[in-house]
Amino acid sequence: MESLFRFSALAEKMHPSPIRELFRISQQPGMISFAGGLPDPDTFPVAAFAACADILSRDGRTVLQYGASEGYPPLREAILDMMLGRLGYRPAAGELLITSGSQQAVDLMARALLDPGDVVVLEAPTYPGTLHCLRNAGARFALVPADGDGMQVELLPEVVARAEEATGRRPKLIYTVPDFSNPSGACMGLERRRRLVELARELGIPIFEDDPYGRLRYAGEHLPSLKALVGDAPQVIYASSFSKVLAPGVRVAWTVAAPELIRSMVLMRQGEDLCTSTVTQALVAEYCVRGLLEEHLGLIVATYARKSRAMQAALERHLPPGAARWHRPQGGFFFWLELASGSSRELFERAVAAGVAFVPGRAFYPGAAEQVGGTLSGDHFARLCFTFADETAIDEGCRRLGGVLGGAA
Ligand SMILES: Cc1ncc(COP(=O)(O)O)c(C=O)c1O
Repeated sequence: MESLFRFSALAEKMHPSPIRELFRISQQPGMISFAGGLPDPDTFPVAAFAACADILSRDGRTVLQYGASEGYPPLREAILDMMLGRLGYRPAAGELLITSGSQQAVDLMARALLDPGDVVVLEAPTYPGTLHCLRNAGARFALVPADGDGMQVELLPEVVARAEEATGRRPKLIYTVPDFSNPSGACMGLERRRRLVELARELGIPIFEDDPYGRLRYAGEHLPSLKALVGDAPQVIYASSFSKVLAPGVRVAWTVAAPELIRSMVLMRQGEDLCTSTVTQALVAEYCVRGLLEEHLGLIVATYARKSRAMQAALERHLPPGAARWHRPQGGFFFWLELASGSSRELFERAVAAGVAFVPGRAFYPGAAEQVGGTLSGDHFARLCFTFADETAIDEGCRRLGGVLGGAA
């Protein structure tokens, strides 16, 4: 029967997120899932968070009301204080916007900056949630390959030139996750960070630095964020989130950027959700003001460091020699395996039959038709999340994966 609805061109070309589709498979009984990038729910500070709910009795008349589009003032103060450590300066009030997840920050930024057909430079592989938002804005993608040290920034001028030649448009934005990329786990070295901001300045292209994992380092020294390298210069748009350091269910994140961009993002969000939920912002603010976030970070860093060691050991123990290679992540949520042969999509089918799920690498690359100035694809990669499963499951899941890679079922 013909539909009553005449869908928009955008709705017609939208596809379900491949990762969200995998959730269904991951939830089959007996399945060990390394697929979703989920925090360990055993680490959620349930009791402490519940105690923070007394903000409702103390200040219910405010926190149950509509809030400012820029964010709930006490949370804004807490975040500005926190940013002093991460960015090396306390941003001005006009530089900060609180959003419903950093997913919304990318969406608002894309709608503020991009017209259909515009080109965005991405490190490849990249985060599919961002691809989804940018695709909705009609973007096309120019890819800079990444290695164990993140984006190969020396290739940036060439990628920009090729994209410009292919489209007649100068890319409008560079998107990167310098600290513990999703999916590759790579952390961009200090020299590359410096070079990236220098090259981007020369090219006149702003950088969107997505930093949900920066505080989750398990080995080595913390490196300055790109935003810290440029201070309050408009060149870097910085976004981070409470999703991985507290709980994704709160849907609270923030962006620090030039006031003119923040103003435009505020106007965009007023047509979308008016403001981030005041109740959850108030709970998160209370949690931060009580000093609980710093304490909690200590706990999750220790837990995830243990789990990442467990996955490293399990992969070494169970994968057939030479079947895959990987860089040991120093933080974040993921291992990124490069298969010696075969497609990870095909491996995925067999792995699921053996009771272990991961995300095939293709999900982290735009489709060939969306790429300009060259094409890259990730068919021989696999993303494994180590934070969700417990250590016994990590070992057993890697044993199953090793069996499949070795040809046994
Ligand atoms: C690189 C990256 N950016 C953004 C997000 C989304 O974060 P949020 O839950 O704040 O929307 C994620 C979540 O996995 C991520 O890995």
